[in-house]
Amino acid sequence: ALRRAGNVHWQHLDVDKAARARIKGQQPKVLWFTGLSGAGKSTVANQVEKRLHAQGVHTFLLDGDNVRHGLNRDLGFTDEDRVENIRRVAEVARLMADAGLVVLVSFISPFRAERQMARERFDDGEFIEVFVDVPLAVAEARDVKGLYRKARAGQIPNFTGIDSPYEAPETPELHLRADTDSVPEMVEQVLRALR
Ligand code: PPS
Repeated sequence: ALRRAGNVHWQHLDVDKAARARIKGQQPKVLWFTGLSGAGKSTVANQVEKRLHAQGVHTFLLDGDNVRHGLNRDLGFTDEDRVENIRRVAEVARLMADAGLVVLVSFISPFRAERQMARERFDDGEFIEVFVDVPLAVAEARDVKGLYRKARAGQIPNFTGIDSPYEAPETPELHLRADTDSVPEMVEQVLRALR
């Protein structure tokens, strides 16, 4: 990979992460939701954010579908583009954690190496990997957005779970069973993990 930052020096700033978080009276955290398309990542993340917000926690939700309309609009779904997608999102999440926020990240993030790379950008105990686990057959049967049907018909190449891999987390901080637990139950589990 090219190292373009060769002559760019890191600038020390006096107001640091701890100072920013202190002013908010909260600890920065990153809730990193990963799972197949249609597992329910965005639904759970959205409701968790709503609850935290109601408690006065300053949050931000980064959602794949939305970020791909802006910052990452130049990226598709090849392995290479997904790697870059997650790299950028991890960096944005880090900036937000540096700003003192509780950040919710909802991307398929299918590759173990990229999730590990993301984890390494945060302080110990700050990164909470939330595996929204659903069997492929269940996600496909639900097919909320009709994407699995299109993928099976060959209309969406590189679709996760069909012809692009999903590497399930081995030791996530939290393992949600989206096929058996209800959304409110999963939301409670996330809030408990955060406390
Ligand atoms: S990734 O793998 O982390 O880069 O993906 P992400 O940025 O989360 O984007 C996933 C959403 O994009 C839609 N979509 C696809 N998903 C998987 N594979 C292919 N080829 C694809 N094409 C479009 C899909 O709606 C995903 O949304 P979710 O919310 O996960 O269902």
